[in-house]
Amino acid sequence: MSLRPVLIAPSILSADFGHLADAVKQVEAAGADWIHVDVMDGHFVPNLTAGPPIVEALRSVTDLPLDVHLMVTNPDALIGEFARAGANHLTVHVETCPHLHRTLQRIHEHGMKAGVTLNPATSVVTLEEILTSVDIVLVMSVNPGFGGQPFIESCLDKIARVRRMLDHVHSQALLEVDGGVNLAKAGPIVRAGADVLVSGSAIFTSNDYSKTISQLRMAGETISV
Ligand code: DX5
Ligand code: ZN
Repeated sequence: MSLRPVLIAPSILSADFGHLADAVKQVEAAGADWIHVDVMDGHFVPNLTAGPPIVEALRSVTDLPLDVHLMVTNPDALIGEFARAGANHLTVHVETCPHLHRTLQRIHEHGMKAGVTLNPATSVVTLEEILTSVDIVLVMSVNPGFGGQPFIESCLDKIARVRRMLDHVHSQALLEVDGGVNLAKAGPIVRAGADVLVSGSAIFTSNDYSKTISQLRMAGETISV
């Protein structure tokens, strides 16, 4: 049986913002594959976080892909700014994009990989028409806005359904899962079909980033006999 490699994307939302550069360097040294940056506008989600200046600052301290998750009401207005700041991936919520296909085109025109995500209550049907235009599908497994929330169990089935949809169209897009991902949940999430695990609190509250990242990566590869 061949196993897909599992990528780990620490979410800096749970890092110490007073020492963000150090936190990013530490998780990079500990084996992180991507750096996940949560952008919240206080409208689409009830929280405010970082914008392009933070992405630009992070760009200068790491060569890892900056995986920017836009939880904002008007993502189209920000595509150029995030590209110039050095984002590698820009992921938008389907709930915020009335012209989603055009938004994804614009992200590509700006040289970034295009991701699409959906809230736990949003149906996977909303992805159907754009599956062949995306590089990343991000399944939210908490309601977006805050780190440290518990994984919503019904999302496991949703991950499996998205996996089947991607395989059905022979898509090479990566299936990323975000919210409540910890050592207990990583195995079932990967076995449901995830390629990329975002993890904030589980990594940044641990004493040993390297051990936690490698345990998260391996969790899905443990096959019971
Ligand atoms: C939630 C964010 C997540 C969050 C994950 O809105 O999109 O990226 O930081 O944090 P944990 O892993 O603590 O659930
Ligand atoms: Zn996120």
